[in-house]
Amino acid sequence: MSVPLIRLQAVSVAYRVRSNRLFGHETVHALTDADLVVNAGETVGIVGESGCGKTTLARVLVGLQRPTTGSVVYQGQSLWQMSSGDRRREFGSRVAMVFQDPSTALNRRLAVETVIADPLVIHSVGTRASRRERVRELLDLVGLPGSVLGAYPGQLSGGQRQRVAIARAIALNPSLVIADEPTSALDVSVRAQILNLLIELRERLGLAIVFISHDIQTIRKMADQVVTMYLGRIVETCPSSSIPQSIFHPYTRALFSATPGILAPPGRISLHGPVPSATHPPGGCSFHTRCWKVTAACRAEFPPLSAVPGAPGHTYRCIHPESAAASIPGGNEPAAAGADSCDIQSVGVSETEPTSQA
Ligand SMILES: Nc1ncnc2c1ncn2[C@@H]1O[C@H](COP(=O)(O)OP(=O)(O)OP(=O)(O)O)[C@@H](O)[C@H]1O
Ligand code: SF4
Ligand SMILES: [Mg+2]
Repeated sequence: MSVPLIRLQAVSVAYRVRSNRLFGHETVHALTDADLVVNAGETVGIVGESGCGKTTLARVLVGLQRPTTGSVVYQGQSLWQMSSGDRRREFGSRVAMVFQDPSTALNRRLAVETVIADPLVIHSVGTRASRRERVRELLDLVGLPGSVLGAYPGQLSGGQRQRVAIARAIALNPSLVIADEPTSALDVSVRAQILNLLIELRERLGLAIVFISHDIQTIRKMADQVVTMYLGRIVETCPSSSIPQSIFHPYTRALFSATPGILAPPGRISLHGPVPSATHPPGGCSFHTRCWKVTAACRAEFPPLSAVPGAPGHTYRCIHPESAAASIPGGNEPAAAGADSCDIQSVGVSETEPTSQA
């Protein structure tokens, strides 16, 4: 079997934050015991509600966040056992990130040419002339005209800025790009263009992509593997072809039920109660406070990892899993209006949206 491009093993990230108590501190469990494999050329989609740890996971993958415990292994090499120089040199050129908001991710005081050439300069790639050449090539790859070279990020549209950010991300020919909600700060009319650009670059350059989004439809279309996160935990990993027929975790089912047309029978599963605090996550299964299938056993311990027989790459953590023909007891009922009910909304774009030039 080939070595994965990148593998997370039992990775946890805990932040120490000030508590309300005088001189007190508490711990935010942003990511807990995460195992993840990304293979070369593969697209992995990460989905989950706000605050569930998606960006923390992305920061771990790109080497911006050191895990509190656990390991990050890139092509067989443990990232945090490398010297910082090797990590910057070898890993820093192979893995890149596209952030949510290009208006804050790009240095507004630098012209586009300097912004895109920056990684080449940092990694001492080529001569001044060859870097200029490469920047033009990258502009072409991301569909921007040469006329933007002298412009500043503030003079570009949101879509153009995100194209610049993507050009910068691929400048060093990375094998993996992490895209953390790359379209959510953009006008709806240009989102589809940016998604299509990522798909095109993936095909042309053979990139692996970790794509993070709240938008279930987009995740399903973009990804080979879909990873569902809840309260800092990975609760299900499945091939996107398993959706919607073969979802096993109730939370994944609830997420996908929010999108009309994906699940049969149609109907939204309304989850009741707020997402618990990442500072004091509930014991047992972290989803038990909102799950319609909860039993006493669910509160006892976090469910072990289960593999779906005959479905390679499909694992989940639930002791009363859904199945293909599962009914959704009570869950399909419309939620009573009230402060403690929470509908998961699909917020993303569809490919049928207008595609005017970004
Ligand atoms: N630097 C930090 N210090 C303290 N807590 C943090 C820090 N970064 C993230 N957190 C907390 O960790 C948890 C996970 O945050 P994260 O940003 O990874 O979630 P997310 O899934 O990306 O959310 P969103 O969809 O809103 O972007 C949250 O409870 C968040 O408040
Ligand atoms: S373990 Fe229990 S509470 Fe957790 S998702 Fe499964 S059924 Fe729901
Ligand atoms: Mg985030």
